[in-house]
Amino acid sequence: MSNPRIAFIGAGNMAASLIGGLRAQGMDSKLISASDPGAEQRSKISAEHGISVFADNADAVNGADVIVLAIKPQAMKGVCLALAPVLKSNQLIVSIAAGITCASLQTWLSTAEAPTRPLVRCMPNTPALLRQGVSGLFANADVSEAQRQQAEQLLSAVGLALWLDEEHLIDAVTAVSGSGPAYFFLLIEAMTAAGEKLGLPAATAAQLTLHTALGAARMAVASDVDAAELRRRVTSPAGTTEAAIKTFQAGGFEALVEQALNAAAHRSAELAEQLGQ
Ligand SMILES: NC(=O)c1ccc[n+]([C@@H]2O[C@H](COP(=O)([O-])OP(=O)(O)OC[C@H]3O[C@@H](n4cnc5c(N)ncnc54)[C@H](OP(=O)(O)O)[C@@H]3O)[C@@H](O)[C@H]2O)c1
Repeated sequence: MSNPRIAFIGAGNMAASLIGGLRAQGMDSKLISASDPGAEQRSKISAEHGISVFADNADAVNGADVIVLAIKPQAMKGVCLALAPVLKSNQLIVSIAAGITCASLQTWLSTAEAPTRPLVRCMPNTPALLRQGVSGLFANADVSEAQRQQAEQLLSAVGLALWLDEEHLIDAVTAVSGSGPAYFFLLIEAMTAAGEKLGLPAATAAQLTLHTALGAARMAVASDVDAAELRRRVTSPAGTTEAAIKTFQAGGFEALVEQALNAAAHRSAELAEQLGQ
């Protein structure tokens, strides 16, 4: 694998996780830089990871092969317009910001010398903070094979990285895995509350639910059969699991999940439209 120099614009939670992941993979701290307007953020990330930090974004990108835009979506337009004149045409731009399209990035980063830029747009999720995330990645036509590998290496540092052939699928990724942790949190809340109503102490209901979620996810990930088959295997006819599953299905569980994910994907597309202005 290549050893690119990576610059992070924004030294917040996501940048810190990605840098931690890269360092854990053995990347030399000399190859990493970051910029952030906050002096506290800068000293924290520099003390933790031994990387160079800058107050000025232009200083951080100087000499970098890969530039990771790890700022809030609302800050993206201003940051890109200011960076465009100092970027080199062969520097790979990786955006992890929700709702910012390649078309918007291209417009904001375009200059006479570099009318188009190699761009990778990613949608990570919150468990990336524990290096247990999963991301969808889309590369535009200007990204070389070596740059694809660099982007994959970066996102793989905080979990699983999966390539998408079409950019619009980022909205579906947002609906499934981007927003997905919250759906599981909702189920955990509901199961814990129901366990309490069945008489369990609150802490016991919470621990039973959490460890069931973790165990089921680990089992499904490790299994060579799909979730439907795993469910069939633990659902005996006329047993307790069947009683619960039939109740879920009578309430329209699958259709409700589909509606919920459609709503999230629709909102993702709507936000991209607004943020691209
Ligand atoms: N956290 C997640 O799980 C997650 C998941 C998927 C996608 N993302 C995306 O990742 C991006 C970063 O999220 P985050 O959670 O890491 O946010 P964050 O913790 O707020 O980090 C953003 C950092 O950028 C700094 N910043 C603001 N303006 C800047 C500028 N002009 N130049 C350089 N740095 C600037 C912020 O400083 P101040 O605080 O001083 O403003 C902050 O330290 C977002 O676009 C988000 O959509 C995050």
